[in-house]
Amino acid sequence: MPFADKMSAFAPSVFVRLEKELDALRAEGREIIDLSVGTPDFPPAGHIMDVLRDCASDPDMYKYAIRDYNELTDAAVRWYKRRYGVSLERENICGLTGSQDALAHLPLALLNPGDTALLPDPGYPMFRTGVLLANAEIYTTPLYEEGGFLPDLEAIPRDVAQRAKLLFISYPANPIGRLAPDGFFERAARFAKKHGIIVLHDNAYSELTFDGRLGGSFLSAPGAMEVGVELNSLSKSYNLTGARISFAVGRADVVAALARMKSNIDYGIFRPVQRMAVAALDGPQDSLDALRAAYQSRRDALCGALAQEGWHIEKPEGTMFCWAKLPEYAPDSGEFALNLLRATGVVVVPGISFGDLGNRYVRIALTQTEERIRAACEKIGRHLRQLTMNN
Ligand SMILES: Cc1ncc(COP(=O)(O)O)c(C=O)c1O
Repeated sequence: MPFADKMSAFAPSVFVRLEKELDALRAEGREIIDLSVGTPDFPPAGHIMDVLRDCASDPDMYKYAIRDYNELTDAAVRWYKRRYGVSLERENICGLTGSQDALAHLPLALLNPGDTALLPDPGYPMFRTGVLLANAEIYTTPLYEEGGFLPDLEAIPRDVAQRAKLLFISYPANPIGRLAPDGFFERAARFAKKHGIIVLHDNAYSELTFDGRLGGSFLSAPGAMEVGVELNSLSKSYNLTGARISFAVGRADVVAALARMKSNIDYGIFRPVQRMAVAALDGPQDSLDALRAAYQSRRDALCGALAQEGWHIEKPEGTMFCWAKLPEYAPDSGEFALNLLRATGVVVVPGISFGDLGNRYVRIALTQTEERIRAACEKIGRHLRQLTMNN
C-alpha cells in the first residue's frame, strides 16, 4: 500500500520500540524497572476522582461536549490570576484534549507548507511532529549545557528569523529539567515581536519544580500576550494524564484559530473530564506541594544513588526527569539504553530521541518509588562497572 510520503518522517515512537523489547524480556520472566515514560504513578486527589464517580451515572455526560463549559474557562481564568497574576478573558483560552492536541493542530492553523518553525534540540519530539504534519520547515535552535540549555535567539541568522513564523520554547524543560532563568521569557517575547513570530510556550511541567523555586508563565512577560500562547496541562500537575485535559492560553486570534481548526476535528472534551478539571483548578492546591516534595525526594534518591555508583549527574530544577550525561567510556545513548535494558531490565530513554544533541545523554523518569529507583541505580552501577571492565 503506498502510504503518504510524510509517513517516512514518522517512525514508531521510541516507547513503542521499547515496548517490543520489553515484551521479549517479560516473556523470559525478567524483572523490569521502567524509568522511561513520563506518566505519573501518583493518583489524582480524592476530590477530583469523586467528580468522575458522580458524573458516571448522569446520561447527559456522555453527549458530545462540542465546546468548553464556561465554568471550565472561568476556572482557568481564576487559576492563571492566582498562580501567575496573569489576567485573561474567555477569548484567551481554549480547552484541549491534552497539550498534544495543540502541538499537532496549532502548527496546522499557523503554518503554510514551506514556512519555518524554530525548534529546540534537545526538545520534546512532538514539537517536530506538528511542524512536519503542516509540511513546514524546521530550523533547530541548539540548547548547549554551557549556554544554560537556552536557545541563543540572537545567533539565529537574520533571514531565518525573518521567515520564521513559530518559535517553540518549553520551561521547565523536558528532557533537560531546567527552569527558565529570569529575563528569558522577556527576551523571547521581544525577539518574537521584532520578527513577527508566534511563540508557543509548552508549560507541561509548570508545577513540578524543586528546591523552593516555582516555574513561571511566558504570558507574565511584558508583551507576551501579543506574540504567544502557552500550553498548560493538567496531566502532570494533577496526575490526570489519561483524562486528556489541558489549555491553550494567550493571544486571542491565535487561540481562536486553534479552536476553529479543532472544531473541524474533535467534538470537545469529555464532559466529566471538564468537570474534573474545574474541581482540580478551583479546589485545594496543597496536593501540588506534596507532589513537588515527592518528586524532589525521588530526584535526590536517584542522583545520590547514582553518585554512589560513580555516576555524577546534574540535579534537575524541575519536571519529572533527570537528564543524565553519559560517562565518557559509555557508548552513545541508543546503544547504551538498549544494552542497559538487556543487561539489567532498567528502562531509560536514549537522549537521541530528543534530537542530535541528546546523543550523549539518557532521560531517567522519576516515576517509580524511591525503593525501586535505588534498586535500579544498583543495577545501573553494576552495568557501568561491567562497561569499564570491557573498555
Ligand atoms: C513537554 C511536554 N509537552 C506536552 C506533553 C503532553 O502533555 P499532555 O498530556 O497534556 O498532552 C508532554 C508529555 O510528556 C511533555 O513532556
